[in-house]
Amino acid sequence: MDKLVITGGARLSGEVAISGAKNAALPILCACLLSSEPLTLSNVPNLNDIGTMLKLLAQMGVKIEREGDRVTLDASGLDNPLAPYELVKTMRASILVLGPLLARCGEARVSLPGGCAIGARPVDQHIKGLLAMGADIGVDHGYVVAKITDAGGKLKGARLFTDMVTVTGTENLMMAACLADGETVIENAAREPEVVDLAQCLVSMGAQISGAGTDLIRVRGVSRLHAASHRIMPDRIETGTFLCAAAATGGEVWLKGTSTGYLDAVVDKLLDAGCEISGEKTASHESIHLVAPKRLKAVSIRTAPYPAFPTDMQAQFMAINAVAEGTAIIRETIFENRFMHAVELQRLGADIKIDGNTAVMAGVEKLQGATVMATDLRASASLVIAGLVAEGDTHIERIYHLDRGYDHIEAKLTALGAAIRREKA
Ligand code: UD1
Repeated sequence: MDKLVITGGARLSGEVAISGAKNAALPILCACLLSSEPLTLSNVPNLNDIGTMLKLLAQMGVKIEREGDRVTLDASGLDNPLAPYELVKTMRASILVLGPLLARCGEARVSLPGGCAIGARPVDQHIKGLLAMGADIGVDHGYVVAKITDAGGKLKGARLFTDMVTVTGTENLMMAACLADGETVIENAAREPEVVDLAQCLVSMGAQISGAGTDLIRVRGVSRLHAASHRIMPDRIETGTFLCAAAATGGEVWLKGTSTGYLDAVVDKLLDAGCEISGEKTASHESIHLVAPKRLKAVSIRTAPYPAFPTDMQAQFMAINAVAEGTAIIRETIFENRFMHAVELQRLGADIKIDGNTAVMAGVEKLQGATVMATDLRASASLVIAGLVAEGDTHIERIYHLDRGYDHIEAKLTALGAAIRREKA
């Protein structure tokens, strides 16, 4: 397995382009299943998770053309509404095919994602919603098996309420509702910008959706969706990760092709930590400029659904607090087991005490390079940030997690002046 070796101490400076959002691209790729006409996407990031999703769609009969950041998907020959365990086990987001497959084909067989490193992460809310829309749905030998038994072969519009805010749950149900008979109302919907990006793509395909970005989404079913083009929004988590990396090193960076618009909670905390941040937007481009002080002030955070502080930025803030001045408290309220990076950061010398879903950290003057292991996608990002500020060399093992969600991370960090290299297994 490949590993990354980082020699800490370089101050990041310069400019870097931010890629399209993984968490918007994944559901939007699945949206192609809803139509027999092509969907053309641009700003699609070059990530292993995207490769996995394309493989999954291809084995269902979707024709795919990919050139640079453009992907064209043609699901006119969709003939195999199956998501096998081998592909689903490497990426939970595969569950996003369930709603569109069922709506378009009247049946679907999707492997249950199973446990993952950051907690149990069940899909009961996806299933509950589709049941309420009239699907006959159950679990058989580890697969969610869903069918529309109604003579019309269509899901029925319904009033849906999820027990908790679920991002992919909202997306799955919103896609399923596009081709249902009548109106579907999703209450307690996720308000994440990626849900809005998906809704915008669906609307350009002819869907009738209102309220995306609020906690009440209305979808009026239509008989078919048509060809469309859509540009994937910038990745706000990649943006936040580069802001943190630059901030931790006392650096100054311009991030191109992204905006502070979806990142208020993160930007707010970086301002509290002592950074100066400004956004620039013209007709043709947008960018963010960050200047960091020599040493950051510790900042406490509490994760919660959008627009509050994102759980996908929690690990990166643990890394910056590790070397900040003062004490910080980090509360994780979304996932029950998302502090695995804390143990690895402790190996680098961080002072962190964990009690349930709370971490109490006292910033130290210096971290020291060591060998650490990446345990999930964002945990890996926190180890990269820690490695950038640690004395000496940090070896990060199991970086396949990082390749799932960060587009050319070593090249981008190298361009900003980091001493980082990949060692092939
Ligand atoms: C998405 C993001 C992920 C992010 C997370 C929370 C994608 C591809 N992934 O994941 O990066 O960390 O949102 O912002 O967009 N839950 C249930 N039953 C369900 C669904 C969810 O109990 O049927 C629970 C989960 O275990 C978790 C919470 O609800 O505790 C939120 O999960 P959810 O928003 O669904 O996360 P994902 O959509 O999987």
